[in-house]
Amino acid sequence: MRNRFVIGNWKLNGSLVSNGLLLNTLKTGFGPAIAGKTCVVCVPTPYLSQAQTELIGSGIEWGSQDVSCMEIGAYTGEVSAGMVAEFGAKFAIIGHSERRAVFGDTDAMVASKFGSALKSGLVPVLCVGESLAERESGKTQEVIWRQLHATIETHGIKSLSLGVLAYEPVWAIGTGKTATPGQADEVHAFLRGKIRELNLEVGENLSILYGGSVKKSNAVELFAKPDIDGGLIGGASLVAEEFLGIWNAL
Ligand code: 13P
Repeated sequence: MRNRFVIGNWKLNGSLVSNGLLLNTLKTGFGPAIAGKTCVVCVPTPYLSQAQTELIGSGIEWGSQDVSCMEIGAYTGEVSAGMVAEFGAKFAIIGHSERRAVFGDTDAMVASKFGSALKSGLVPVLCVGESLAERESGKTQEVIWRQLHATIETHGIKSLSLGVLAYEPVWAIGTGKTATPGQADEVHAFLRGKIRELNLEVGENLSILYGGSVKKSNAVELFAKPDIDGGLIGGASLVAEEFLGIWNAL
């Protein structure tokens, strides 16, 4: 049985006051821990300390939305994986499409960040996904495999077993347009199949999450698919009732 995850990506949202309310509501509604299932919130970096204070002992984990590929030195504005780990974070989202599209993260940088996260003991949540134009021109498989392959080439296939993979079609992010469970599962099965060709065990055991307009109303159907091992949640992770509903669907 593969590990299953619901991971919230708060993106550039929140304040000390609103986070406090959200985290407390999540804690209250979370319930007892369930073996093999993990709930995570990935907060803006300045709020890692708040997440640590609020969530410690709650059963909910916390993480960052990125890490630098640099470890230390004259790199203004960067935040290292080691710094993130100091705040008790266990996870780091790597290669989100917004980082790739808006801030120029390349496949090589993503691979490097994946390595930095691992080195500091964080679980990298590696995101891949195609744009609408890429999907419409039949390039989905080629694009997502290229994105993933950079990391496999750099760190070896077995490194994937230390992370989590997330398929997030760009056209489904924040658009309210979800991939159908069938569409998502087809891509997950493709990814798992390619990874299995390289290492059967890694392919079998890798958790592959779906992200893109997941809500409590569509989570049950998505999570029922054999190759979907949970979700990476944007907008709905900012609303406690939605996020807990998605968690309960896992
Ligand atoms: P939405 O759930 O808002 O579509 O965002 C998905 C996402 O980008 C999670 O990383």
